[in-house]
Amino acid sequence: MLGVCYYPEHWSATEWARDAARMVEIGITYVRIGEFAWSRIEPWRDAFHWDWLDAAVDTLGHAGLQLVMGTPTATPPKWLIDEHPDILARDHHGRERRFGSRRHYCFSSPSWHRESKRIVDIVAERYGQHPAIVGWQIDNEYGCHDTVLSYAPHCVDAFQAWLEARYHNIDALNEAWGTVFWSQEYRSFNEVGLPHLTVTEANPAHSYDYQCFSSDQVVAYHQMQAEIVRTHAPGRFITHNFMGFFTAFNHFAVGKELDLASWDSYPLGFTAQMMELDPEERVRYARTGHPDVAALHHDLYRSVGGGRFWVMEQQPGPVNWAPYNPIPASGMVRLWTWEALAHGAEVVCYFRWRQMHQAQEQMHAGLLRPDSAVAPGFQEAAQVAQELRALNDESSAETTYWRQDIGGQRADVALIFDYDAAWVLEIQPHGCIPRYFTLIQRFYTALRRLGVDVDVRRPGEPLDGYAVVLAPTLPILSETAWQAIEASSATVLMGPRSGSRERNFSIPNPMPPGRLQRALPIKVAAVDTVPPDMAGDVIWQGKHYPAGPWREQIESNLAPTAHFDHGGGAIYARDRWHYLAFWPCVELLMDYVEPLLAGRGLRSVWLPPTLRLRNRGPYTFAFNTGNDPVTAPAPPGASFVIGQRRIPPCDFAMWRCNDEDSGAWAQVDDDSDDNLLSADPNYSHLDDPDTKT
Ligand code: GAL
Repeated sequence: MLGVCYYPEHWSATEWARDAARMVEIGITYVRIGEFAWSRIEPWRDAFHWDWLDAAVDTLGHAGLQLVMGTPTATPPKWLIDEHPDILARDHHGRERRFGSRRHYCFSSPSWHRESKRIVDIVAERYGQHPAIVGWQIDNEYGCHDTVLSYAPHCVDAFQAWLEARYHNIDALNEAWGTVFWSQEYRSFNEVGLPHLTVTEANPAHSYDYQCFSSDQVVAYHQMQAEIVRTHAPGRFITHNFMGFFTAFNHFAVGKELDLASWDSYPLGFTAQMMELDPEERVRYARTGHPDVAALHHDLYRSVGGGRFWVMEQQPGPVNWAPYNPIPASGMVRLWTWEALAHGAEVVCYFRWRQMHQAQEQMHAGLLRPDSAVAPGFQEAAQVAQELRALNDESSAETTYWRQDIGGQRADVALIFDYDAAWVLEIQPHGCIPRYFTLIQRFYTALRRLGVDVDVRRPGEPLDGYAVVLAPTLPILSETAWQAIEASSATVLMGPRSGSRERNFSIPNPMPPGRLQRALPIKVAAVDTVPPDMAGDVIWQGKHYPAGPWREQIESNLAPTAHFDHGGGAIYARDRWHYLAFWPCVELLMDYVEPLLAGRGLRSVWLPPTLRLRNRGPYTFAFNTGNDPVTAPAPPGASFVIGQRRIPPCDFAMWRCNDEDSGAWAQVDDDSDDNLLSADPNYSHLDDPDTKT
């Protein structure tokens, strides 16, 4: 279940066999190669140098390793760019994005499509049936370095064709976009440009369609490659390695063309670069990463992959690209690996085998140092491998449990993730509001701190069987999305801005929250966004919570469930429907959601900020990313498979419950200041000999 990313082209051929033997020795099974190797495969047009790659593949294969081959399209070589400079993307300012790093291509360039087809066809034909190659990674991290939206001349042609296919005649486009406003009307599709370099903001419907078009271009490009690989590599899986905190294209649409999703997990880099945290949290999580940063993505990509996912790149030590790049706390590389496995990852691959002594990523750790001595991540990966070996040992009684198929395992709670929502919020933020991912993360953290497992679902996906469904925001609440929610019998909590836009970016008639009004008689009459210092409180059941910078004024005959401190209603609920008219904080969400869970017979437990639970088949895992030991909330009869009831900092425990114990958790107790209470007063506080009193 472990793998590594390896670049034979970076090292002398004399090292490959030794590297391969060492990989096998520590328990690595999979090796991803090839995704940036174009200039070594084809140094000049049509001059193919296969010897080195054949030898590398054979060497790794003979050592018993299974390979994932990358198509090399993330790095078009210099000669190709010189031949076809129109491959280069243009940024928002219309400037060329030049050769000299990677991903310097535009998804809409016809020459690029032609050249991609050519190289993918040649590589896939050569290696498609190689016995050591078990899967293919298409390209590398679509969109990395802000490369989904391009503003090159050929984008204009492609966009106009896309618009024509969508609207059929220009009057329909004018009507949909409301171009009568500011005399923006077009007389033909040829007149429509790209939504950039305008004097002030471009028409939001124009920007939104450009975002949808750009996402479709990524999907079409991916489909093109996937079809070629499928033809040449029957029986091998196809994947793509997605990124963290990235919403610039619809990942569910790419996911439809994959056998399994994979993603690149850099918890410390993401925590430093992507998360909106207060200064105390920034310090607290600097060396461990935020406890939900990887988990949320595991759950997201499990859904994108239709139930199957890998971690294709796992941070093994400090990265090189965040505003600061701490060394992970000892134990975290092992913990992140097990956490991924607990969330259903089939394989975790470390990025990378050996730290490169040159070029852009020379400050990025590998499992080995540049001098081939072991780096701390190596020891931790080896420990995981050893632990996995023990679980897979035929003589162990645990093996039958561990090998259970967990593919169909479902959580009781679903979180709806919507790429369109991210785009709407970016195009028209209406004030200084949190990013979409921040909102998603708050809802996710609240659920995870209540101890529940979460499935991520896309809008419109059937929700049968879920007891509780949370939609942090669904601005374009389409008929399909609405029907899936309505058809479920779940308790539903929807966040602000839901139902606030139609597909053409107009305000729905009769007013937001659009289709939700069929279940909940409320109307958003106005939106009030205020500077942070003016943001007051929301009061629910006598307790005050920060209201944040966004408040909706609701008209309704329903009495609100919670109020803003200035008097307006902040939460409305009827039957199984709940609506929040502001962006909630984690604490409010925990308080509010806990009784919703209990109302559906779901158990919950209040966990400290740095402890998380996760079930996988018959096992429960408890991950402690805090600075202090914590007691696992395992029932007394639990059999500990890894670790013990007392979990040290940056460590975890994994246990299996006897049948009669399942469903019962002991009270959580920890040594930190964040003391815990069981959320459910009916919880039996089981005797725990280790629990500190
Ligand atoms: C990923 C990328 C890798 C490497 C890594 C460094 O985004 O796929 O090629 O650059 O980051 O953290």
